[in-house]
Amino acid sequence: MSERVEDIAEAMVQNGQGILAADESTGTVKKRFDSIGVDNTEENRQAYRELLFRTADAMNNSIGGVILFEETLFQKAADGTPFVDLIRKAGAVPGIKVDMGAKSMPLLAGETVTEGLDGLRERLAKYYEAGARFAKWRAVIAIDDVRPTVGGIKANAHALARYAALCQEAGIVPIVEPEVQMDADPATHTIERCHEVTDAVLHTVFNELHQQNVKLEGMVLKPNMVVPGSKCVTQCPPEVVAHHTLSVLRRAVPAAVAGIAFLSGGQSELEATANLNAMNSGKNLPWPLTFSYGRALQASALSAWGGAAGNVGAAQAAFTQRAKMNSLAAKGEWKEELETA
Ligand code: 13P
Repeated sequence: MSERVEDIAEAMVQNGQGILAADESTGTVKKRFDSIGVDNTEENRQAYRELLFRTADAMNNSIGGVILFEETLFQKAADGTPFVDLIRKAGAVPGIKVDMGAKSMPLLAGETVTEGLDGLRERLAKYYEAGARFAKWRAVIAIDDVRPTVGGIKANAHALARYAALCQEAGIVPIVEPEVQMDADPATHTIERCHEVTDAVLHTVFNELHQQNVKLEGMVLKPNMVVPGSKCVTQCPPEVVAHHTLSVLRRAVPAAVAGIAFLSGGQSELEATANLNAMNSGKNLPWPLTFSYGRALQASALSAWGGAAGNVGAAQAAFTQRAKMNSLAAKGEWKEELETA
């Protein structure tokens, strides 16, 4: 009997578990590796991902799902164990990024729409066969005084819903990720502007999901937090970020959605943890609120590793720390003192 998408979705986000976004495309890995002076070879990508997936404490206790890039889904550890098996043995669900990237919209300057729907049904069947039980599609929403336009929002919401429906048909849980950017140029917008844009985006996305009959119980939403742009002069403490984010989510996200797992979007590791914790502190929420971080789970681990086999232990300790802190934050139990304990 095939598994139900509802059960897979629940397993990914329950009990303070979150998602490790390790699905950086080969181009994005280059940027990350450049920052630590490591060559972007297949061997180095494999060694780095193996280090993460073999971090037993983090993987067993804090990570419910791992998003992979296509290359990694079919890759093996040094001893020949498929990565998918390593992830499953740690009790986490393997997933796959299936979009083909955000492409500029021809007549809407400064806006993008994410592509990758053509042939997606066939790719999903192949990914399912390889062990993937959830997928990710990221829409990138520009934000300034005039963007996004209604046309830009609608195009992305429509594509997200078409992707989500294809995933559920294939027995795969869709992570629906409409990302309102915090660090794109010029990133000077206020938290109020982010509130307004995120609200419009999420309402449009859930309207499209409804029209295309997507089962909300079998999906995970991966939104941005409502934050000021990274270059805005007025930055906000976690309580303010939590207030704005929860107010938008309560109005726009139906209670039936299996879970909400935030992206970190350029926040520092500590900011991403403190903000998540503030959202989970003593509020009665209809959905689990957890993390699906890339940079905010990996930044310390990546720099501790630096490409040297002798640093694997230090990198794994750094990853364990971030995973544990974020898992506590997903339960509202994180405190800044624990960072140095
Ligand atoms: P960040 O947490 O680094 O934003 O990455 C999450 C992600 O998967 C973006 O698509």
